[in-house]
Amino acid sequence: MASYDVIIIGGGPGGYVCAIRCAQLGLKTACVEARSTLGGTCLNVGCIPSKALLHASHMLHEAEHNFAKMGLKGKSPSVDFKQMQEYKDGVISQNTAGIEFLFKKNKVDHLRGWGKITAPGQVTVDGEVHEAKNIVIATGSEPSSLPGIEIDEKVVVSSTGALALPKVPKRLVVIGAGVIGLELGSVYKRLGSEVTVIEFLDHITPGMDSEIAKTLARTLKKQGLNFIMNAAVQKVDATKTKAKVTYESRKKGNVETLDADVVLVATGRRPFTEGLGFADIGGTITDRGQIEINERWQTNIPNIHAIGDVITGPMLAHKAEDEGMAVAEEIAGKHGHVNYGVIPGVIYTSPEVASVGKTEEQLKAEGIAYKVGKFSFMGNGRAKAVFMGEGFVKLLADQQTDRILGCHLIGPAAGDLIHEICVAMEFGASAQDIALTCHAHPTFSEAVREAALACGDGAIHA
Ligand code: NAI
Repeated sequence: MASYDVIIIGGGPGGYVCAIRCAQLGLKTACVEARSTLGGTCLNVGCIPSKALLHASHMLHEAEHNFAKMGLKGKSPSVDFKQMQEYKDGVISQNTAGIEFLFKKNKVDHLRGWGKITAPGQVTVDGEVHEAKNIVIATGSEPSSLPGIEIDEKVVVSSTGALALPKVPKRLVVIGAGVIGLELGSVYKRLGSEVTVIEFLDHITPGMDSEIAKTLARTLKKQGLNFIMNAAVQKVDATKTKAKVTYESRKKGNVETLDADVVLVATGRRPFTEGLGFADIGGTITDRGQIEINERWQTNIPNIHAIGDVITGPMLAHKAEDEGMAVAEEIAGKHGHVNYGVIPGVIYTSPEVASVGKTEEQLKAEGIAYKVGKFSFMGNGRAKAVFMGEGFVKLLADQQTDRILGCHLIGPAAGDLIHEICVAMEFGASAQDIALTCHAHPTFSEAVREAALACGDGAIHA
């Protein structure tokens, strides 16, 4: 039996970051992971592999649509999907091996197998008992399907199966116009699939600033994605090679069907606590399946913390990482901190979408007087040079104090640009602080400064 200061259950972005920080703070640490590689959903079957496929398919799109415009003539590349998958798998293994290396470097024990809490202060890994003064649950989430739809990961797939298809499907039906549906729908559209997205609501990406959501929907439609909105999927009948999707129009009430070679179910994820043993020892799990915690990420059982997708809040890798670091600090007797008001969200479509802080809809609902500074990438020389003039930056600032309240972007490198505003918000900056900061020319980031200028006396290039 081994004895630790901390055992973390789950080796995803929340768990492995927590483990490294615990070790750096001088705690004897182990991390349990049942998958053969570290990195969780994000590195193995989520964020990282999808970014590899998004990049490859984006390159193809550039070759097909923009190369000739720049005088780069010749036949566009054809798709060798097997090799594209190998490239993707290579990216995954480089990253997962990197975490293995970081564990060794920081002296974190990697316990391979299924971790189960068998008593407070006790974790068994495939039957072997380990003692821990503290336990951190970082078991993440799993895809949640709909009643009447069985995921076989071949014809009816979750994001996991969609990232590992043997070939590009002729007809892909995506259920749900959220982050996963739009990112993977874009990938397969660019690789040649006919893609139809069926969404329950009348708009895509619920919760996002509505002006950005409308612009994204328009852009994706122009790229050839079909959308069926206001439609509730009732069932999917699948054979070994194809499927029939039945949905009901929420407006007209009529029931329609759609044939597909592959159906991607992207209707959300749910916390994963199966086989964990937490509830068996008296741990509280909410009606939504989340592990209940207090403001210090402590569960109702002393010395058991929980972080990431398994607790409340957005299911995002970087939110889990922040919580992982904060909990490590707490266990080490310091003060852990996560600013939940400044967690960016990014959709890696092309163009990218990024957002932080409040949306206009939220500010209106809260009765906060605000001003809007907007700037189109059409006025940004660098964006136009690379065919990315579509999209805009929208900065929201307090009407009275000019303090930045939120920022919503659709355009080139939006997922990177947003961090200027995250830092500004962490420091309680005003729109004028951004407007008075020199931004290098020619960069996409000038559009952020112009939006800040638009909050004051006006943008220059609008
Ligand atoms: P989501 O919650 O983003 O979107 C699900 C969509 O499915 C919603 O628009 C919802 O209205 C729709 N829907 C639900 N039931 C339906 C039905 N019966 N018929 C038609 N539409 C229906 O969930 P998604 O995309 O599966 O993502 C899961 C989680 O993974 C999210 O929390 C997301 O934040 C995270 N994620 C984040 C990424 C990123 O940060 N870039 C990438 C991928 C996932």
